[in-house]
Amino acid sequence: MLELRDAHYAYHLGSRPLNILQGCSWRFLPGSFTAVRAPSGAGKTTLLNILGLMDRLTAGSYRINGEEVSSLSDERQSLIRARSIGFLFQNFRLVPDLDVRANVVLALEIAGVPQHERRARAEAALEQVGLQDRLTHLPPELSGGEAQRVALARALVKNPQVLLADEPTGNLDPVNRERILRLMAAYHAGGGTVVMVTHDAQAAAAAEQVVELRAGRLRGAASPGGLPG
Ligand SMILES: Nc1ncnc2c1ncn2[C@@H]1O[C@H](COP(=O)(O)OP(=O)(O)O)[C@@H](O)[C@H]1O
Ligand SMILES: [Mg+2]
Repeated sequence: MLELRDAHYAYHLGSRPLNILQGCSWRFLPGSFTAVRAPSGAGKTTLLNILGLMDRLTAGSYRINGEEVSSLSDERQSLIRARSIGFLFQNFRLVPDLDVRANVVLALEIAGVPQHERRARAEAALEQVGLQDRLTHLPPELSGGEAQRVALARALVKNPQVLLADEPTGNLDPVNRERILRLMAAYHAGGGTVVMVTHDAQAAAAAEQVVELRAGRLRGAASPGGLPG
């Protein structure tokens, strides 16, 4: 379970802080699939960076499975991130000069998976996303939909407890958007916890639960209907 309690986060540029999280409390239960909806600039990426231990709260508490993680050392945080958290970035963030398979192998290496297992596991993950014929392509040689599927294979190959997805359908055509949502749903059906941030109402409809990020807080959405943006 991921649990924020009275979480605060601010960027400091110049003299005035830019407050993004302002007393945000929420529990993301194990095995849940939550969509966080908010317009552009509301702090969705910031929230995922906090949940994914890529950034730290300014104040308040963040617990993973009951353990306070906000005050852990960078090394401990990296270890948790590498082993337990799959991250799907807004713009894929594949390593451009490593081929598709090597990108996925790298995630296993970082997660501490023994070398002799990596290649077969990477190939199996890429087969699951339908990219078994693209193993030796470089990321610049892929379409947007293919790149996002490689990124998803990379996020899921280590069997993380949690998948954090930052506008995963944002730059995709309808066919690829459906594909990505179906693959995320399959991970969820297998027991995974998903937190997806999006400003896309249709993507949010794939989740079990929709919450809104507004004025620095999360709250349950009245209905999966239309927020602007
Ligand atoms: N590194 C940063 N330094 C200062 N301000 C930032 C930084 N990153 C984002 N912001 C600002 O914080 C706000 C929230 O950003 P972000 O979390 O990226 O929103 P979203 O993902 O919802 O579009 C925006 O106004 C953005 O300009
Ligand atoms: Mg964003």
